[in-house]
Amino acid sequence: MTTYYKGFPQSTREEKLHMVNLDELEHEAKYVMPEAAYYYVASGAENEWTWRNNTQAFNHFQIVPRALTGMQNPELNTEFLGMKLKTPVMICPIACHGIANAEAEIDTAKGAKAAGALFAMSTYANKSVQEVQSAVGDSPRFMQLYLSKNWDFNKMVIEESVKAGFTGFFLTVDALVSGYREANLRTNFTYPVPLAFFNEWNGGKGEGQSVAQMYASSAQNIGPDDIRKIKEIADVPVIVKGVECAEDAMLAIGTGADGIVVSNHGGREVDGAPATIDVLPEIAKAVRSCDHRVPIILDGGVRRGSHVFKALALGADLVGIGRPFLYGLALGGAQGVQSVIEQLNKELLIDMQLTGCKTIEDIKHAKIDHINYSADWGISSTSRSVMKPYPVTKENQLTGEAADAVSGASRH
Ligand SMILES: Cc1cc2nc3c(=O)[nH]c(=O)nc-3n(C[C@H](O)[C@H](O)[C@H](O)COP(=O)(O)O)c2cc1C
Repeated sequence: MTTYYKGFPQSTREEKLHMVNLDELEHEAKYVMPEAAYYYVASGAENEWTWRNNTQAFNHFQIVPRALTGMQNPELNTEFLGMKLKTPVMICPIACHGIANAEAEIDTAKGAKAAGALFAMSTYANKSVQEVQSAVGDSPRFMQLYLSKNWDFNKMVIEESVKAGFTGFFLTVDALVSGYREANLRTNFTYPVPLAFFNEWNGGKGEGQSVAQMYASSAQNIGPDDIRKIKEIADVPVIVKGVECAEDAMLAIGTGADGIVVSNHGGREVDGAPATIDVLPEIAKAVRSCDHRVPIILDGGVRRGSHVFKALALGADLVGIGRPFLYGLALGGAQGVQSVIEQLNKELLIDMQLTGCKTIEDIKHAKIDHINYSADWGISSTSRSVMKPYPVTKENQLTGEAADAVSGASRH
């Protein structure tokens, strides 16, 4: 169940996960991941307001159910930039999957392939692009780029990725330096497992580096011209990841971006940045009305099928998940990643049936109300922390005045 890389314990679990909801995995992953690794994943920047609000803000939007639609058997198939996918849920780029499972990105890619989902792999991956290629052949996958100050390095990453069957790039523009992440400071987190691209290039620089050290070698002055430079090296789609306002979306599209990811890096960069779902409608409106309509991905705080539904209805074409799949990887390897995607699919299909949406395209025309209040973060009534003992016994029944107060009855 565990193997060790220079003393760092790595899960080797491979199993389907049985969950009631995704939040349970965060709790369980704590017991299989080393503390520093777990908090590196789970935490956000500063007070973690944006991290929390990403999920909470989905409550600003309500799905209006539809009746008498005569529809049954909704379907999740969708297309994205020519790729045929079995789900609108995609795997976001996350650094260093080896902190969750010894098979790292190989298992993530396998899980995504089994679920028919798009997989985006980080520049800070542990496994090489060639290893991923031999594990999953021509599965749908993109490479994420953290641009280095050194364009020889960037060229190497771009060329090797394309050669290994990665058919496009996510250019990350919202993490030019690391957000102020207190958890990493408290645990002294450093990447415990080698990062493949850095081995090849820099003789092992990667392993043992802190997040801040890694960011220090990446480019801080990313501008529109970099999109063009990437395309000069490889003529494949470049999606700009980390857009939070319509102006930046327009800037990206105007300089050749083939898509945008509305993202705040999972609340790990600017604490106080808006929740992604709150800014999606404005960005989608601007993108729809420009000459060159490009696809939109939303990520950040997506934990429910209803979140996926809302994001699609508000203008996204795909919806990304980050932390939850990494917990799935820790708890169940490739099958764990697949289980996470399938759990969201299951919940999404219920919402589709109850709104009369037969296809993903139908969701894009579904009725969503916007009531701008922040409902309390409501955990599921089936969350273990609030689950009542069952079966009901004499001992757990309310009696006397307490019972009367609840039922409204009077003894007199
Ligand atoms: C541990 C961790 C590492 C990440 N590493 C990267 C990365 O290497 N490149 C990148 O573009 N985004 C990275 N992200 C951001 C994710 O791609 C994504 O935007 C975010 O996780 C989505 O939010 P969620 O975790 O709430 O689903 C990382 C996020 C986490 C949690």
